[in-house]
Amino acid sequence: MSVTVPVSLGERSYDVHIGPDLLGDAGRLLLPHIAKTSRSRPLPVVTDENVAQLHYPQFASGLEAAGLVPAPIVLPPGEHSKSFEQLEQLSEALLKLGVERGGLIVALGGGVIGDLTGFAASILKRGVDFAQVPTTLLSQVDSSVGGKTAINTRQGKNLIGAFHQPRVVLADTEVLSTLPRRELLGGYAEVVKYGLLGDAAFFAWLEVNGRSALSGDAKAITHAVAHSCTMKAAIVARDERENGDRALLNLGHTFGHALEAATDFSDRLIHGEGVAMGCVLAFKLSARLGLLPPADSQRVEKHFAEAGLLTRIDQISGPRPDAAALLGHMRHDKKALGGQMTFILARKIGEAFVSHDVPEDAVLAVLREG
Ligand code: GLY
Repeated sequence: MSVTVPVSLGERSYDVHIGPDLLGDAGRLLLPHIAKTSRSRPLPVVTDENVAQLHYPQFASGLEAAGLVPAPIVLPPGEHSKSFEQLEQLSEALLKLGVERGGLIVALGGGVIGDLTGFAASILKRGVDFAQVPTTLLSQVDSSVGGKTAINTRQGKNLIGAFHQPRVVLADTEVLSTLPRRELLGGYAEVVKYGLLGDAAFFAWLEVNGRSALSGDAKAITHAVAHSCTMKAAIVARDERENGDRALLNLGHTFGHALEAATDFSDRLIHGEGVAMGCVLAFKLSARLGLLPPADSQRVEKHFAEAGLLTRIDQISGPRPDAAALLGHMRHDKKALGGQMTFILARKIGEAFVSHDVPEDAVLAVLREG
């Protein structure tokens, strides 16, 4: 019952396989991406302590069944691992295992593991192939597809990185059943985002079927992930390096990042929660600017709220983030150009566009009300 979504990027093209029990079938799916001469060498599998405990045994058996020899590299879990320090340790560990061109490095985990491993793969020996095996909904529908890799610095998140496309992506939907509900919902915000930015029919499908997808219905979750990846693949194929359309994927992210920054990237607001709230704010801003009827923004808010996501700034625990401080964070967003903030606005559900000239007073008004 698995589905394959192609990402068409010339010689950098690859497939995203989506469905149940792909971990158990990993050896068969990865083998064609490893040169024959490298197949008997240790296959580095970069993962974190939590994912290793839950999924490594099944994954390793899947690899061994195809005659591969997995060599786990287990890192501490959490965003802190996207650091120079961990990059250094990981690079040394990978070199020690003898990674070589023709071989493959596997990232088994969420966005942190994928981003860090992908970046290490992009610089080791001037570029080694890697495979993404995303284990969170967020990474299955977003970070594992499209080749963005990065680490964080004191100056901000994802400021050092490279575009380095994976050779293949295996998104096993069964692993999502082990995710904490909050993480699953955070990933769901990114799924909804695809409907909002470019596909009204998909949004309407989610209104009817989102609940089944979230409760683990195999057909519904596979469709939700596959459709999200199909939309992302189409955008990335048009604009791999984000000179245009790819920015649409940032719907909800200008507001969302500001809210995450104002709450110190703490667990007061996880990334997907910021994206959900950010999408609602982007639709409210679009309505305030007269681009779409308020009923559309209410419909968006209703869907996120019914799914169980926060939609209003005053629902964030602790002191309410100040509107002026949020605006300050937006001005410093790495997507701001010459001090001009970038917003993704909408003309209707399913039709988003990039705007660089939104009046600050409208943004402030939305932040004060939202
Ligand atoms: N996460 C946005 C992108 O891949 O462009």
